[in-house]
Amino acid sequence: MNRIVVASGNKAKLREIGEIFKGYDVVSMQDAGFTGEIDETGETFEENALIKARAVHEKLHCAALADDSGLCVDYLGGAPGVHSARFCGRHGDDGANNRLLLQKLEGVPTEKRTAYFESCVALITEDGEEITASGRTYGRILEEAQGCGGFGYDPLFFSDELQKSFGLAAAQEKNAVSHRGKALAALAEKLRERGL
Ligand code: IMP
Repeated sequence: MNRIVVASGNKAKLREIGEIFKGYDVVSMQDAGFTGEIDETGETFEENALIKARAVHEKLHCAALADDSGLCVDYLGGAPGVHSARFCGRHGDDGANNRLLLQKLEGVPTEKRTAYFESCVALITEDGEEITASGRTYGRILEEAQGCGGFGYDPLFFSDELQKSFGLAAAQEKNAVSHRGKALAALAEKLRERGL
């Protein structure tokens, strides 16, 4: 296997994946000729990652990689979870998602604001073998945004490992401890074990 098509057009993600899968030719699904929407109807990150990877694999018959991720807040019973991108009701409105999160945690003391980001990555090899891996990064939800780096909930997430918000972290600093970085590293290890 030397070519991996990623079920995403997000340039930052593609760069991160390319850095971890150095020996492979990593291309976006658009560049590989995949058009159309993929409905993320799964109830877990793993289901959604598999749905996306299978859609690309079925259409292009090549090795396909997808990830699905989100924020899980303990006080909210794991929400927004798989609904992270559309917590406020609209897809991808980071500002409204962050405002709603702060509203739901209003008055909640620091020690109860614990949370983690989770990512699941799924790779389907050219001949259809499905391999998944996941990663988490722990922290807590701040009472107000700190920094404006990253995306999504980054400015509200205080990382235990970095001891600062992801919004204040440089991209490389965040990638070194992020849920996605850990999931991708675990997947790369599984590929090595299989000699792929
Ligand atoms: P996706 O799996 O990349 O589509 O992410 C789903 C949603 O989870 C995003 O729209 C964000 O709201 C949230 N999310 C996932 N990873 C991160 C992260 O690293 N930082 C901030 N928000 C994230």
